[in-house]
Amino acid sequence: MDLPWGDPRSTQFITNVGLITSDGPNGPDIMSSEWTHHISYSPGLLAVCIRPGGATHENIRSSKEFGVSIAATDQNVMASVAGTNKGKEVDKIAALQELGFKFRPAKQINALMVEGAVLNIECRLKQELALGSHTVFVGEAVEATLNPGKKPLAYHAGQFWRLTEAIAKPGPTELERIAKTVAAHQRK
Ligand SMILES: Cc1cc2nc3c(=O)[nH]c(=O)nc-3n(C[C@H](O)[C@H](O)[C@H](O)COP(=O)(O)O)c2cc1C
Repeated sequence: MDLPWGDPRSTQFITNVGLITSDGPNGPDIMSSEWTHHISYSPGLLAVCIRPGGATHENIRSSKEFGVSIAATDQNVMASVAGTNKGKEVDKIAALQELGFKFRPAKQINALMVEGAVLNIECRLKQELALGSHTVFVGEAVEATLNPGKKPLAYHAGQFWRLTEAIAKPGPTELERIAKTVAAHQRK
């Protein structure tokens, strides 16, 4: 069966917004990717799932590297511009710079990184998997920089969100009841 774009069964996930930067035949580009995942600690690997035919897809295929900047809560406009315009039609980097957003050159790869993001990770392409509608590009982290104080932008149900409240842990009595119940169900 399909789980199509916009179907409520496809929009219940809560994700980060990865701002994927690349350079290649289409020039410097940026796109938004909700399907941006940290998939290994050692080595540090990220997976981004990108639809074929666009500027980012072609750039990554050709350059074998890409940047991942995890969007911060004050970068929703950037995420929207990067995610609703095609790099083959619009110089999104120039447009975003004119809108006041800043970029800096990556340290280890040939791409721009987004200033003010929660986290900037520079990746070298390790593997490419053609699966269904999207290609999974697995990148190995070669440089990772945290920007303390920034909070990640969340994406859910087609809208941008900010996380505001951590759910409190159960109290000691409830924790004890849970521990006893789990202990009673240990496999022999
Ligand atoms: C919040 C958001 C998340 C998105 N996530 C993805 C994604 O995970 N994968 C994808 O292929 N496109 C995703 N898109 C759409 C691309 O960002 C869009 O197709 C963009 O124009 C591609 O840029 P490019 O043509 O310059 O490569 C998303 C768009 C938005 C607004």
